[in-house]
Amino acid sequence: MHHFQYLNGVLHAEDVSLAAIADAVGTPFYVYSEATLRRHMRVFRKAFAGTDALVAYSVKANSNIAVLKILASEGAGADVVSGGELMRALKAGIAPSKIVFSGVGKTRDEIEAALAAGIYQFNVESEPELEAIDAVAQTKNTRAPIAFRINPDVAAGGHAKISTGKSEDKFGVPWSRARDLYKKARDLEGVEVKGVDVHIGSQISELAPFEAAFRKVAALIADLRSDGATIERLDLGGGLGIPYGEGATPPHPEAYADMIKQVTEPLDLQLIFEPGRMIAGNAGVLVASVIYLKEGEAKKFLIIDAGMNDLIRPALYDAWHDIWPVRETAEPREPFDVVGPVCESSDRFAAARALPPLAAGDLVALMSAGAYGASQTSQYNTRPLIPEVLVNGARLAVIRNRPAHEDMIANESAPDWLG
Ligand code: LLP
Repeated sequence: MHHFQYLNGVLHAEDVSLAAIADAVGTPFYVYSEATLRRHMRVFRKAFAGTDALVAYSVKANSNIAVLKILASEGAGADVVSGGELMRALKAGIAPSKIVFSGVGKTRDEIEAALAAGIYQFNVESEPELEAIDAVAQTKNTRAPIAFRINPDVAAGGHAKISTGKSEDKFGVPWSRARDLYKKARDLEGVEVKGVDVHIGSQISELAPFEAAFRKVAALIADLRSDGATIERLDLGGGLGIPYGEGATPPHPEAYADMIKQVTEPLDLQLIFEPGRMIAGNAGVLVASVIYLKEGEAKKFLIIDAGMNDLIRPALYDAWHDIWPVRETAEPREPFDVVGPVCESSDRFAAARALPPLAAGDLVALMSAGAYGASQTSQYNTRPLIPEVLVNGARLAVIRNRPAHEDMIANESAPDWLG
């Protein structure tokens, strides 16, 4: 459920009209509903109420500092994958004791920064990474708390590009090597084994692949314990899908939680979760203006002022985003290809999408764009990063500004020899 609805014929974020925001900040822009972010976090936490669970919001989904502050105030920790995300999480007031560090390519600098901050856990994705973390921690006379991310060899995920749990994927340590790696880690001075980690993909819309992976991992934990390892924590990653409007009905967090409790209860573990999309996805929309209506030979194109650099999901993962006109209308719909101004054929948000008649200057909202929208933007075609706006009831605040063109090139310089 989210807080974007029509009031008096105009689409609103909570109590604020998207047309009014467009007048104030210009298009395109992202707008987030604070009530929706809070609600999603509460739904997730409630599903695990009574369980020892840390909800470490996956910062990559939407890393705006205001979003992180809201989630921190709801008790969220953070799942970070870079030194930059770690800095953001700390700056937003998330306690280091609630931060886990994932990702296959942590550099020594990043490991050092995370150790200095005193994070809760490193999710280790390879043997060389184990050795690097051990070495850095030893030079700092400390021990890094670790879990190995296990690759359970289970297929999952809404699209091949966001599936991570198969043995051919780059993620995690191979299932067959897990017990040896835990034995190796036990003898290292710079690491302390705390748990096991698994994350199999994103936008997963059924429970079965989660359950298959989690059951495998639960069996592994029993083996590791019989090998003498101390396993106190189980990080189950993120990946729970959301409805994007194309008919998928992903499991409710309650059903996800029930399944997990069944699988993990006998093991007496602290659980860690890294939800991203489930928290932020339906809490944001991208608002754009129609620039032109172009009648092609075979199709009608709606050319809008947002491009694939602003929301790359349709181009990269063939993702579906509902497109709603900001002004409600009952006029009959007809098919349009909705495209951006970027010079790439993949700069297309929707093909043959049934929309009411729209004209230059009309506003449209690309729905469910709160996760992996603003956080995946680029400045391709020298298009400025677009503003992000936060709404709370009738209040609104710009939480990221649109840079001027001059600001965008301020870090560039030409060498002397070019005159
Ligand atoms: N934990 C790890 C280790 C991850 O790699 C991810 C997402 C998450 C947690 C959060 O997953 P979520 O709950 O959001 O599904 N850009 C793509 C999604 C990439 C997901 C990357 N990893 C998209 O727009 O669909």
